Amino acid sequence: MAVRRMRYIPDPVLRERTRKVRDFGDSSLRKLADDLIDSMRHYNGVGLAANQIGSPRRVCVIQLPEDEAPTTLVNLEITRKEGEREVVEGCLSLPGWQARIPRAEKVWARAAGLDGKPIRYKGATDLLAQALEHECDHLDGKLYVDYLRSQDDLYEVTPGDEEEGEGEGDASAEG
Ligand code: NI
Repeated sequence: MAVRRMRYIPDPVLRERTRKVRDFGDSSLRKLADDLIDSMRHYNGVGLAANQIGSPRRVCVIQLPEDEAPTTLVNLEITRKEGEREVVEGCLSLPGWQARIPRAEKVWARAAGLDGKPIRYKGATDLLAQALEHECDHLDGKLYVDYLRSQDDLYEVTPGDEEEGEGEGDASAEG
Protein backbone atom coordinates (compact mmCIF):
# COMPACT_ATOMS: atom_id res chain seq x y z
CA MET A 1 0.00 0.00 0.00
CA ALA A 2 1.26 3.43 -0.84
CA VAL A 3 0.28 7.01 -1.41
CA ARG A 4 0.93 7.80 -5.05
CA ARG A 5 1.70 11.12 -6.65
CA MET A 6 -1.42 13.08 -7.58
CA ARG A 7 -1.71 14.07 -11.21
CA TYR A 8 -2.77 17.65 -11.78
CA ILE A 9 -4.06 19.44 -14.87
CA PRO A 10 -2.79 19.59 -17.58
CA ASP A 11 -1.34 16.08 -17.16
CA PRO A 12 -2.59 14.26 -20.29
CA VAL A 13 -3.41 11.10 -18.31
CA LEU A 14 -6.41 13.00 -16.88
CA ARG A 15 -7.78 13.31 -20.41
CA GLU A 16 -7.35 9.68 -21.35
CA ARG A 17 -10.24 7.27 -21.31
CA THR A 18 -9.29 4.44 -18.96
CA ARG A 19 -9.32 0.81 -20.06
CA LYS A 20 -11.80 -1.75 -18.74
CA VAL A 21 -10.45 -4.38 -16.38
CA ARG A 22 -10.88 -7.90 -17.76
CA ASP A 23 -8.73 -9.96 -15.40
CA PHE A 24 -10.03 -9.80 -11.84
CA GLY A 25 -7.45 -12.35 -10.71
CA ASP A 26 -4.60 -9.97 -11.46
CA SER A 27 -2.84 -9.20 -8.16
CA SER A 28 -1.87 -5.74 -9.39
CA LEU A 29 -5.58 -4.85 -9.36
CA ARG A 30 -5.74 -5.21 -5.59
CA LYS A 31 -2.52 -3.21 -5.23
CA LEU A 32 -4.00 -0.44 -7.38
CA ALA A 33 -7.16 -0.39 -5.22
CA ASP A 34 -5.07 -0.22 -2.04
CA ASP A 35 -3.00 2.64 -3.46
CA LEU A 36 -6.18 4.47 -4.50
CA ILE A 37 -7.60 4.17 -0.98
CA ASP A 38 -4.34 5.30 0.65
CA SER A 39 -4.03 8.22 -1.76
CA MET A 40 -7.70 9.25 -1.40
CA ARG A 41 -7.23 9.40 2.38
CA HIS A 42 -3.89 11.20 2.16
CA TYR A 43 -5.30 13.91 -0.11
CA ASN A 44 -8.58 14.08 1.85
CA GLY A 45 -10.90 13.11 -0.97
CA VAL A 46 -14.28 11.40 -1.04
CA GLY A 47 -13.27 9.65 -4.23
CA LEU A 48 -10.32 9.02 -6.50
CA ALA A 49 -9.97 7.61 -10.00
CA ALA A 50 -7.02 5.53 -11.18
CA ASN A 51 -5.86 8.01 -13.81
CA GLN A 52 -5.51 10.64 -11.08
CA ILE A 53 -2.60 8.58 -9.79
CA GLY A 54 -1.34 7.71 -13.25
CA SER A 55 -2.96 4.32 -13.89
CA PRO A 56 -4.88 3.80 -17.15
CA ARG A 57 -7.27 1.22 -15.66
CA ARG A 58 -11.01 1.75 -15.13
CA VAL A 59 -10.96 1.64 -11.33
CA CYS A 60 -12.01 4.19 -8.73
CA VAL A 61 -12.73 4.38 -5.02
CA ILE A 62 -15.39 6.30 -3.14
CA GLN A 63 -15.72 6.95 0.58
CA LEU A 64 -18.35 9.46 1.63
CA PRO A 65 -18.10 11.07 5.08
CA GLU A 66 -20.84 8.75 6.36
CA ASP A 67 -19.25 5.58 4.95
CA GLU A 68 -17.43 3.34 7.37
CA ALA A 69 -15.31 1.81 4.65
CA PRO A 70 -14.23 2.73 1.15
CA THR A 71 -15.86 1.12 -1.88
CA THR A 72 -13.72 0.04 -4.80
CA LEU A 73 -15.55 0.24 -8.12
CA VAL A 74 -14.13 -1.57 -11.12
CA ASN A 75 -15.43 -0.74 -14.61
CA LEU A 76 -17.84 1.90 -13.28
CA GLU A 77 -20.47 3.04 -15.78
CA ILE A 78 -23.40 5.40 -15.40
CA THR A 79 -26.42 3.75 -17.00
CA ARG A 80 -29.09 6.40 -16.43
CA LYS A 81 -29.50 9.91 -15.05
CA GLU A 82 -32.60 11.82 -14.02
CA GLY A 83 -33.21 15.49 -13.30
CA GLU A 84 -30.80 18.36 -12.97
CA ARG A 85 -29.51 20.37 -10.03
CA GLU A 86 -26.69 22.80 -9.44
CA VAL A 87 -23.84 21.66 -7.23
CA VAL A 88 -20.58 23.09 -5.99
CA GLU A 89 -17.74 20.88 -7.06
CA GLY A 90 -14.00 20.65 -6.71
CA CYS A 91 -11.38 18.13 -7.73
CA LEU A 92 -8.11 16.95 -6.21
CA SER A 93 -6.50 17.31 -9.65
CA LEU A 94 -7.45 21.03 -9.83
CA PRO A 95 -6.54 22.24 -6.35
CA GLY A 96 -7.59 25.72 -5.30
CA TRP A 97 -10.65 25.92 -7.54
CA GLN A 98 -14.36 25.26 -7.26
CA ALA A 99 -17.27 25.72 -9.58
CA ARG A 100 -21.01 25.66 -9.72
CA ILE A 101 -22.00 23.12 -12.33
CA PRO A 102 -25.09 21.14 -13.30
CA ARG A 103 -25.29 17.52 -12.16
CA ALA A 104 -28.06 14.94 -12.23
CA GLU A 105 -30.50 14.57 -9.35
CA LYS A 106 -30.54 10.80 -9.56
CA VAL A 107 -27.96 8.40 -10.92
CA TRP A 108 -28.06 4.73 -11.83
CA ALA A 109 -24.70 3.02 -12.19
CA ARG A 110 -23.10 -0.36 -12.43
CA ALA A 111 -19.64 -1.59 -11.58
CA ALA A 112 -17.91 -4.63 -10.14
CA GLY A 113 -16.13 -5.13 -6.87
CA LEU A 114 -12.56 -6.36 -6.66
CA ASP A 115 -13.96 -9.90 -6.59
CA GLY A 116 -15.75 -9.28 -9.89
CA LYS A 117 -19.20 -9.36 -8.27
CA PRO A 118 -21.66 -6.78 -9.63
CA ILE A 119 -22.37 -3.58 -7.70
CA ARG A 120 -25.43 -1.58 -8.68
CA TYR A 121 -26.64 1.87 -7.71
CA LYS A 122 -30.31 2.57 -8.34
CA GLY A 123 -31.42 6.16 -8.15
CA ALA A 124 -28.49 7.40 -6.04
CA THR A 125 -28.89 11.01 -4.85
CA ASP A 126 -26.98 13.80 -3.13
CA LEU A 127 -23.22 13.44 -2.63
CA LEU A 128 -23.22 9.79 -3.72
CA ALA A 129 -24.78 10.68 -7.08
CA GLN A 130 -22.29 13.51 -7.52
CA ALA A 131 -19.32 11.32 -6.61
CA LEU A 132 -20.42 8.57 -9.02
CA GLU A 133 -20.69 11.11 -11.84
CA HIS A 134 -17.41 12.82 -10.91
CA GLU A 135 -15.40 9.58 -10.76
CA CYS A 136 -17.04 8.12 -13.86
CA ASP A 137 -16.14 11.32 -15.70
CA HIS A 138 -12.50 10.97 -14.61
CA LEU A 139 -12.48 7.42 -15.98
CA ASP A 140 -13.78 8.80 -19.29
CA GLY A 141 -11.12 11.52 -19.38
CA LYS A 142 -13.52 14.32 -18.39
CA LEU A 143 -13.20 16.97 -15.68
CA TYR A 144 -15.92 18.91 -13.87
CA VAL A 145 -14.82 22.17 -15.50
CA ASP A 146 -16.04 20.71 -18.80
CA TYR A 147 -19.57 21.43 -17.52
CA LEU A 148 -19.00 25.13 -16.80
CA ARG A 149 -21.82 27.25 -18.16
CA SER A 150 -20.22 30.59 -17.34
CA GLN A 151 -16.76 31.76 -16.40
CA ASP A 152 -18.36 33.41 -13.36
CA ASP A 153 -19.24 29.96 -12.02
CA LEU A 154 -15.55 29.11 -11.55
CA TYR A 155 -13.76 30.67 -8.63
CA GLU A 156 -10.59 30.34 -6.60
CA VAL A 157 -10.72 29.08 -3.05
CA THR A 158 -8.15 29.19 -0.32
CA PRO A 159 -7.84 26.26 2.09
CA GLY A 160 -10.42 26.55 4.87
CA ASP A 161 -12.50 29.00 2.85
CA GLU A 162 -14.51 26.56 0.77
CA GLU A 163 -18.17 27.17 0.18
CA GLU A 164 -20.40 25.10 2.43
CA GLY A 165 -22.60 22.64 0.66
CA GLU A 166 -23.47 19.05 0.13
CA GLY A 167 -21.32 18.91 -2.94
CA GLU A 168 -17.71 18.13 -3.53
CA GLY A 169 -17.06 21.76 -2.82
CA ASP A 170 -16.29 20.95 0.77
CA ALA A 171 -12.60 20.83 1.49
CA SER A 172 -12.95 17.20 2.46
CA ALA A 173 -15.32 16.36 -0.35
CA GLU A 174 -13.23 16.40 -3.51
CA GLY A 175 -12.54 13.50 -5.74
NI1 NI B 1 -11.73 14.80 -9.36
